[in-house]
Amino acid sequence: MCGIVGYIGEKPAIDVLLNGLSHLEYRGYDSAGVALYENSDIEIYKASGKLINLKELVKDKEICKTSKKGIGHIRWATHGLPTTVNAHPHTCNCKSLAIVHNGIIENFQELKEELLKLGCNFVSETDTEVVAHLIAHKYTKCKDLLEAVRLSTLEIKGAYALCVMHKNAEDEIIVAKRNAPLLIGIGEGENFIASDIPAIIDYTKKAIYLNDNQVARVTKDTVEIYNSDKSQGNNKVENLPFEPISLSKMGYKHYMLKEIHEQGDVVRNILSGRLISAEEDVKLDNITIDLKNISRIQIIACGTSYHAGLVGKYVIEDLTGIPTDVEASSEYIYRNKTANKNTLVIGISQSGETADTITAIKQVKEKGAKVLIITNRPDSTMARLGDSLFSIDAGIEVSVAATKSYMAQLLALYLFAIYLAQNNPRVDMKAKLKEIKHDILQLPSKIEIILNNKDEIIEISKKYSGFKDFIFIARGINYPTALEGALKLKEISYINATGYPAGELKHGPIAMLDDSMPVLAILNDGIVYDKVLSNCQEARARQARLIGVASGMDDKNKEIFNDLIIIPKISDFVSPALHAVVLQLLAYYIAGYLGKDVDQPRNLAKSVTVE
Ligand code: AGP
Ligand code: GLU
Repeated sequence: MCGIVGYIGEKPAIDVLLNGLSHLEYRGYDSAGVALYENSDIEIYKASGKLINLKELVKDKEICKTSKKGIGHIRWATHGLPTTVNAHPHTCNCKSLAIVHNGIIENFQELKEELLKLGCNFVSETDTEVVAHLIAHKYTKCKDLLEAVRLSTLEIKGAYALCVMHKNAEDEIIVAKRNAPLLIGIGEGENFIASDIPAIIDYTKKAIYLNDNQVARVTKDTVEIYNSDKSQGNNKVENLPFEPISLSKMGYKHYMLKEIHEQGDVVRNILSGRLISAEEDVKLDNITIDLKNISRIQIIACGTSYHAGLVGKYVIEDLTGIPTDVEASSEYIYRNKTANKNTLVIGISQSGETADTITAIKQVKEKGAKVLIITNRPDSTMARLGDSLFSIDAGIEVSVAATKSYMAQLLALYLFAIYLAQNNPRVDMKAKLKEIKHDILQLPSKIEIILNNKDEIIEISKKYSGFKDFIFIARGINYPTALEGALKLKEISYINATGYPAGELKHGPIAMLDDSMPVLAILNDGIVYDKVLSNCQEARARQARLIGVASGMDDKNKEIFNDLIIIPKISDFVSPALHAVVLQLLAYYIAGYLGKDVDQPRNLAKSVTVE
C-alpha cells in the first residue's frame, strides 16, 4: 500500500522510476525495487531499507543505460518481513514476468495451495507472489498479458493496484486496480503509471484514473482500458492539481516542522471566501446536500482525522443540537448500520484513500445516507464517493504525522457547524455565532504567536525527552486534543503516550502515577477549567511531573505545575486548534532530541490503503 511507479517511453526508465519513488518516499516504507525491460529480458533489483540502498544497487548496471520500460515499488509490508526477498517486484518460476502490487490479497492462501499443486515455487512470504504465479499460469494458456491479468483479477479477493510486465509483451505494461489508487500519466510518446500524483508530476499534468476492477494496456503512445467483463472503459483524461514545488522543505529541517509552520496560512486559506467577517454568514457553496431533514450525523474517520471528528461532535452538537456520533471506520464496518436517508455521514480523511473509511462510506451509501467528504485530496477515491465535497486545500502533506491537515479538518468542521446553525431557523444564536466567528478569524495570528515563541516549548521538550511514558489529560472539547497530542508523540518518538479525559484519571490510570510518569494537562478558560485544575492537583499529589498547556493561569495555581506553556487567550470552543499546535511542537522536538526519523516514522505509512 505504499507506492508504485511505471514508465514506458524514450527516457531511461530507471531515472523516471527512481525519481518517482523518491517522491513517494515520504510516506514511510521498508524496502524498494525495480524491474527493467530490455530486448525480451527483464532484470529485477531489490533492496531492503531506504531508497538509497536501491540506488546504490543499480547505479552501475548496464541495463539502466538502455532500458526504456520499467516498473518500481516501495513496500509497506503486510505479509512477510521487510526483507530483500519479500520486496517487490515479484516473479514466477521461469522469471518471464515482473509485477509490483499495492494492497492485500485476502485469498492468497487458497490461491497458493492451488498454484503449489501446479508446480509453482514460492520464494517469498508475500501475498503478492501468488499473483505473479497466477498471471504467469494464465499467460501460458492465453498468450495475452492483458487477458491473463484480467482473468487473474477475477480470482483475486482483496485490494490491489498492479503493474505487470512480461518478457514476450514488448511494447506494453499492464495495470489493474481494485480498492487501491492507481493512475496513468499521459505524455507524448511516453506514458507513466503511479499510485499517487507526486510520483509523476515532474513529467506530466494529465492523467487517467482507473476505476475499481478495470485493467489497462499502457504502451508509449496509447492507453486501452477495459472493465472486468471486457467491455471498454470510457475514463476521461483529467488535469492533475499539484505543482512540483510543493514537495520542497523550504529550508526547514523536516517536512513536519514546515507543515506545522504553515498552519496560520492553512487557516487563512480555508477561511478565504467562506468566512469573511464575524457579521456575515459562512458560505459553503460546494455543499449541495439537502440538509433540511437531517436528524442525525455520523462522523467516520481514522487516526488523526478521527480526533478532528471528535472535536466536530462537540461543535456540531453545541451549535445545532443534532445528535452526532464519531466512529472509528475500522470498527464501524463490522457493526449493524443504523444510518438511513435522514443521516448525514461525514467522512474525514487527509488522503482520501484510507481503506477502512472508504469501505464504511460505501456501506452507508447503500443505506441511503447522504455523504459529505472532508479531505485534503479532491482527486481521491473518497472525494469521488461523496455527495458533497469539502476540500480543505491544506497543500500536500508530506510528513507521515498529520499536522496541518488536522488543523484544516478542524476548521472545516467549525465552518460546517456554523453553516448548519445559521441555516437552522429553529435555533437563534446569532450572538454566539458572531463571537465564534470572531475567534476563528483571529486564529491565524494566534497560531503564529505560538510558532514565533517556541523556545520554551523546545526547552521543555529537551527536559522530558528521556521519559518512557506520558499521560495527556483534558476535559470537554479539548479531550480530543489530548488524544491527538498523545498520538503525535507516540507515532514519531515511540514514547508510550495515552490521552485520557481528565475526570477518568481517578477511575484507573491514576494507579500508574509517580515521578516517572509526566502528565500533560490542557487547560482553557471555560466550563471545565476548574475541574481540570482539580485533576491536576490529584496528579501532583501522586508526585507526577505536571506540564500545563493553558490559556492563562492565576499565580496561586501556577505552582502546582513543573512546567507551564501559556498560549494566547482564546475561547474554549475554538481552543483545540491552538492547543494542538503546542502539542505538535512538543512531539516534534522530543522526537528530534531522541534522533528519530521524524518524517518517516517506523512501521507507518502516509496513506493506509489496506483494511
Ligand atoms: C496521523 O498522524 C496518522 N499518521 C494517522 O493516524 C492518520 O491520521 C490515519 O491513518 C488516517 O489517515 P487519513 O486522514 O488519510 O484517512
Ligand atoms: N501485501 C503486499 C506485501 O506485503 C504489498 C504491500 C504494499 O502495498 O506495499 O508485499
